[in-house]
Parts: sequence; structure tokens; C-alpha cells
Amino acid sequence: MSYIPLYVPNMGEKETEYAVDAVSTGWVSNVGAYVKRFENELAAYVDIPGAVACQSGTAGLHLSLIALGVHPDDLVIVPTLTFIASVNPVRYMGADVIFMDCDDSLCMDPEKLRSFCEDCCYTINDTLYHKESNRKVSAVVVVHVFGNMADMVSIMQVAREFNLLVIEDATEAIGTVYTDGEFKNRMAGTMGDTGVYSFNGNKIITTGGGGMIVSRDEEFLKKVKYLSTQAKDDELYFIHNDIGYNYRMTNVQAAIGVAQLERIESFIEIKTSNFRLYEVLLGDIPGISLMQMRENVRSNYWMHGLLLSDSDTRDRMIKYLENKKIQTRPVWGLIHEQKPYKSCITYKIEKAHFYGDRVLNIPCSSGLTEADVLRVVECIRLMVTFSE
Ligand SMILES: Cc1ncc(COP(=O)(O)O)c(C=O)c1O
Repeated sequence: MSYIPLYVPNMGEKETEYAVDAVSTGWVSNVGAYVKRFENELAAYVDIPGAVACQSGTAGLHLSLIALGVHPDDLVIVPTLTFIASVNPVRYMGADVIFMDCDDSLCMDPEKLRSFCEDCCYTINDTLYHKESNRKVSAVVVVHVFGNMADMVSIMQVAREFNLLVIEDATEAIGTVYTDGEFKNRMAGTMGDTGVYSFNGNKIITTGGGGMIVSRDEEFLKKVKYLSTQAKDDELYFIHNDIGYNYRMTNVQAAIGVAQLERIESFIEIKTSNFRLYEVLLGDIPGISLMQMRENVRSNYWMHGLLLSDSDTRDRMIKYLENKKIQTRPVWGLIHEQKPYKSCITYKIEKAHFYGDRVLNIPCSSGLTEADVLRVVECIRLMVTFSE
């Protein structure tokens, strides 16, 4: 019986060809044609004027916060139901976070975002301040969880009204796009002030590790590039007028990225059809449902989530499936409960607890076959039948 992992990269001939090309020309480091090409082709794919490649999604979020001018005294609103890398960069800045609840899409709840701004904050000269601490609330990090789209229409309305900068953590959602409504044809990552993608090994397209920052603001992108390349004001005489970072992507990574981007739509097609198959096959198993994507959105279906009746059932299912050589993973531990964040401000966190206890990610690689899906579902069925 072969092992079915949760998620593995999908590498093809093009990836090898382009990576070999980068290596054989000697351009293996951070300067080279593939970096520019990957930036241009990704910008074209998500239909935005510019993109800057960087070392990881985490680095991209960090650079975005700096370049947008988030100050160490500021507060930044973040979700609690996310991977911790959405939140840590706020702390790298020396700023503090306010944890927000999710809605039924697992992404940030826009109604709670609004009521927090209305009830717990006040505005002076178009700047939002938190009542209890009198600290400025400057930005919100919105995560498109598992490739679903956060409710950007409502979130952008709140952000415009309360002058919040919007950083879209679209690390999991490249290819997810609105199909209708105010943001029709807009990709995840292209509606806020900046969007960040990740090419970590488990993402829908991967460069082994890497990230990309996108924006419509040319000055912002120039700043991000400058900061990501050690803030060199004079390359010959090594003059630096700012603190920079070594957050660049290598040309070899970018070469792999260019090849992966050429295949992204075929990955989305496979993942969509596997999602639909899971949906049909799981349909008659009691106590289990598949987490759905937002309406009016074409999701990239990056990660599939099962909703189970309680955390005990989930823990038993993880073990049962592991014995059957099927890897699954519970949704992340809530960030406001993690040691470094326990004393931070939280706002009405309810649904995140509910979903945090019950969601289980199941195998969803773009190389997953129909037979794999059938085997996963049959094992789930057996466990449920056996427990009844
Ligand atoms: C929601 C979220 N934010 C941020 C990141 C960080 O991206 P990276 O691993 O490329 O640093 C990831 C993925 O790893 C993620 O899933």
C-alpha cells in the first residue's frame, strides 16, 4: 500500500530544463534573467502592474509592512486562524497585534472587523486609535485561507472607511479569483495595498522556497526591491541609507517558478476535479462535510478541509488514517493561544475556536489520482462506520 502524503510538489520536465539552463549559464545567484521573467510573468498572470520576487512569503509580508510604513508603536489587526507566519512579521517590526475572528469561510470576519473599529476605536484626523491603549491601528493582514477568498468587498469597505492599510496574505491563494461582483476578475492578492504569494514546498506552485510581493504602486515596489537587496544606494562604493535585508530570490528558484507558473492552471483544474470527487464521495457519510469555497469565486482549491463533529473524532481520524498510510493534518493551532501571543488584544474570538477544533486537511496534491481519492474516502467511511 503506497503512502498518500498531504501535499507534495509537482515537478515536470520544464522545471528541470529551466533550472539546468540557469545553472549551466552560471547565473545561479540573485542576478539573472529568470528572476525578472518570473516577476513579469507572475504580474501578468494576476493582472497587476508589478511584482518583486523575494526569499519567502514571510519575507514578503515583512517587507510589505516596512514599505507601507507600519510603525513599531502601531497595532495591526490579524486573524487568529492562520499559519503563524502571517503574524510574526508584525512582531519583527516591533508592532503589536489585535486578533480577529474568522467567518464560515475560515477567513477574517468583516462584520467583526467593522464592529471592532466602531466600538473599540476612535478616529482623529482620519487616523484610527484603539480606545484602551490609545495606540494607532494602522493596518490589517487579511489571509485567504486554504485558497478560499476572504470577503474582500466588505473588508475593503471597512478599510477605506477607517483608513486601514490592507496587506493580503495570498500565500495560499495564487490563482483564486472573483468571478462576479465589485471585484470581478480580480485575483486574490490584488485588491489591498499589497499582496504576497508563497512558493514554499507545499504551495500550489513551488520554487522550493520563495515569495512574491505585488502592488499597483510603483514607488512601493521600488522600495521593496531596494530593501530586499540590502538597501544599496551606491552599488560600487557600498553606500546604504537604510537598513536592508537579504531577502532575494535566487535565479535557480525563479527558473523553477517560471516553469511552475506555466502549469498553474492545469494544477487548479486537477485540484478542482479532485475536490468535486471528494464532495460526491463524502456526501453520504454522516457527520462529515467538506469546507466550501466562497460564492462568486473561482478558488485554486489549494487545501481541502473536512469539517468533523468534534476534536476527539478528528484526533481519532488522524491516527486511523496514518495507520492506513494516509497523511492528514489538523488546522493550525490558534495564534492568540501560542506562547508569544498570549497577552495580545483579542476581539470576540468564537468561530475560530469552533473550526480550530474540527477542521482536518486531507490529501490534495496536484498529482493526486482518482484512485487515491477513492482510497482516502473509503478509509474515512470505514472509520466512521466502525465508530458508530
Ligand atoms: C497563511 C500563510 N502565511 C504565510 C506563509 C509563509 O510563507 P513562506 O513559507 O513562504 O514563508 C504561509 C506558508 O508557509 C502561509 O500558509
